[in-house]
Amino acid sequence: MGGKPAFMTAQIVPVLPQTLALAAEILREGGLVAMPTETVYGLACDASNPQAVARLYEAKGRPHFNPLIAHVAAMDMAKQEAMLSEEAETVARQFWPGPLTLVLPRAATGTVCDLARAGLDTIGIRYPRHPAAQGLIAAFGQPVVAPSANRSGHVSPTRAQHVMEDLGDRIDLIIDGGPCATGIESTIVSFAGETPTLLRTGGIETSALNAAIGGHLALHTDDSIVAPGQLKSHYAPDATLRLNADAPEEGEAWLGFGPDSHTGLNLSPTGDLAEAATKLFAMLRALDARFDRIAVARIPNEGLGEAINDRLARAAYRD
Ligand code: TXA
Ligand code: MG
Repeated sequence: MGGKPAFMTAQIVPVLPQTLALAAEILREGGLVAMPTETVYGLACDASNPQAVARLYEAKGRPHFNPLIAHVAAMDMAKQEAMLSEEAETVARQFWPGPLTLVLPRAATGTVCDLARAGLDTIGIRYPRHPAAQGLIAAFGQPVVAPSANRSGHVSPTRAQHVMEDLGDRIDLIIDGGPCATGIESTIVSFAGETPTLLRTGGIETSALNAAIGGHLALHTDDSIVAPGQLKSHYAPDATLRLNADAPEEGEAWLGFGPDSHTGLNLSPTGDLAEAATKLFAMLRALDARFDRIAVARIPNEGLGEAINDRLARAAYRD
């Protein structure tokens, strides 16, 4: 699989026992498989295989200092890779399987290779809820590492077709599990230091997470990059974005939220934040393909709106 000719395009296959078995076989041979998760599509490879991981970084064009999340399909598999404090385990039991990644001290029994961890002694672990992701990891029998299946710096993929557009000529297989139900990446919280610290807003609302740990969640505020992937410009479309807009100006495409009468797309005409999250990346991709300037309506900064606004701010950021 490592030697797939560049001119071949990955096949998109449906979720079936035999396609998951094929995908697991490709992983064993060191190949790259795009899998659906409830957040966004991930690009999976054997977490223990440095050659496979090197190929994954290359396919994405991702800097090697940026560690990958290990995906598991059972609590035991998480414990093989990382040390969960009592508090971390409480949070894991409440939100797994689901859109939450825990950064934890690595366990001595861990199998995730150095390159995938970017040499750190911590590890990001997620137990996804999507049955196809669970089925693939179970068929493989070991953790897979899986960053979002986009080229580094692009908007994350929430449809199999997005993966095809970004990476189709660089990977071995794409499993089509339909549109992602959550649509934005997992919330990342670190339990590796003194206090639990939020590293990335995402599919689990910050307030729910904070409540689960008795209200002492620390927000990561200083400017050092704790999650190395959290660069200011990270979800960059080619188009320029104008945020918190009331209406499109001459020459701007419109991305609305809540009832409005403007021509363009709308993340949720009824103002539903969960619906907006599932549609965000697909609509950004669709507008970016056709327009140079996009005006985006104001999104309330509460609940999932926090993660949506975080992604929009990164998409709008220009050095
Ligand atoms: O929803 C998601 O989390 C998706 C799906 C595919 O699971 N994955 C995803 O992976 O968003 P990626 O690689 O695009 O983003 C992972 C983020 C990066 O910002 C990375 O720096 C951070 O997690 N990260 C991973 N391991 C870490 C660690 N040990 N310490 C701090 N940050 C870590
Ligand atoms: Mg990503």
